[in-house]
Amino acid sequence: MSTTATLSFSDGSPSVEFPVLKGTIGPDVIDIKTLYAKTGKFTYDPGFMSTAACRSAITFIDGDKGELLYRGYPIEQIATQCDFLETCYLLLNGELPTAGEKAAFVDNVTHHTMVHEQMQFFLRGFRRDAHPMAVLTGMVGALSAFYHDTLDVNNPEHRHIAAIRLIAKMPTLVAMAYKYSIGQPMIYPKNDLSYTANFMRMMFATPCEEYKVNDVLVRALDRIFILHADHEQNASTSTVRLCGSSGTNPYAAIAAGVACLWGPAHGGANEACLVMLNELQAAGGVAKLGEFIAQVKDKNSNIRLMGFGHRVYKNYDPRAKLMRETCHEVLGELGVGNDPLFKLAMELERVALEDEYFIARKLYPNVDFYSGIVQRALGIPTALFTAIFALARTVGWIAQLNEMLADPDQKIGRPRQLFTGSAPRQVSPIAQR
Ligand code: CMC
Repeated sequence: MSTTATLSFSDGSPSVEFPVLKGTIGPDVIDIKTLYAKTGKFTYDPGFMSTAACRSAITFIDGDKGELLYRGYPIEQIATQCDFLETCYLLLNGELPTAGEKAAFVDNVTHHTMVHEQMQFFLRGFRRDAHPMAVLTGMVGALSAFYHDTLDVNNPEHRHIAAIRLIAKMPTLVAMAYKYSIGQPMIYPKNDLSYTANFMRMMFATPCEEYKVNDVLVRALDRIFILHADHEQNASTSTVRLCGSSGTNPYAAIAAGVACLWGPAHGGANEACLVMLNELQAAGGVAKLGEFIAQVKDKNSNIRLMGFGHRVYKNYDPRAKLMRETCHEVLGELGVGNDPLFKLAMELERVALEDEYFIARKLYPNVDFYSGIVQRALGIPTALFTAIFALARTVGWIAQLNEMLADPDQKIGRPRQLFTGSAPRQVSPIAQR
């Protein structure tokens, strides 16, 4: 039975009816497309607190349950039974690959990992002390200058090749940005390694010393990639969709996503979280926890507990649970199970979860609370954390962009506004102002 919603007004204007749309799971959605045509009124919803900006079949989050599904599969199963490239295939194509499909996909991605040699010269234009996200935003945008044979978003073949190129080249770009920042030569990709092992080698090998792949560490980083691969209509994904809705090329749209991800309320939180833990440790560690929590709760302090809270999750972020598990594994493998920062993080989590302030606001650890500690243990510098997130989220951005471009309802994104500025007035001559 189809449901409708009736909107009535207290000023005597006639009521209007709107269809209520049902998804497979999740809240119903009131279709207000015709609201302006029917009433001459807009809706007001800053921050999209109650607005579904699109239909999507890729990722589903139940924030109250703390559930995350990629194409219907629980993240716990994907993270423990699949690798990152299988996850990419799933997000892009809707189904998990067969063994043959996986082999072909891996081969395709692997053979697109090199970047145009001239990109190295482009990289050299950046200051060496630039933030890696500044470099990455520029480099990803510049892909459209180096691969202009795949810029037509209306051509499915172009979209497909751009998707493969972006997934394949992102690790190379991130590693190049890192090597440049520390003054080491770039390490070219190696095709007989897995996607994630290849990235670690490009990060940590030098021409004088080969990198020894450690399977536990590779698996940990691969899990970080899986957990960050997509997260439905978050700020950077919505940015990619809005940017792509103008018909711009995929590299430009993904560069917009990278830029948005950089912010500390979004992808920058993992870096901000580790900075916070380091500062707290330097200030006295566990002994200073009570004081720190008091500052976080003080509305005048502007201090937030980084790695805590989420717009959608009002329960434990399922990714944080998996990341905590990985944290134990990695620290165990490296023989640093007593890592003071990890101990501090666990204590901070325990104290916050028992505190009325966090309980009342349903603030739980999010994925970034533990991912920084894992990355630090893997030898990844703090400033590179958000770039790792961008590498992993690239597949989600592309899957969402391609879904939008294929949607017959797709239109250029163009929000409206509640105007609060001056009503029309006349310009007076400068001498009279
Ligand atoms: N520490 C202290 N108080 C907090 C925190 C926090 N981390 N997060 C939210 N609050 C309080 C906030 O002050 C507000 O309190 P009150 O109702 O008294 O004014 C209440 O909780 C609701 O917060 P909000 O800012 O209205 O919630 P939001 O949905 O707009 O913000 C958030 C979500 C993620 C931006 C926010 O929780 C935050 O800033 N967290 C820290 C940054 C962080 O870890 N971000 C990573 C998100 S997960 C990775 C990703 O997807 O990018």
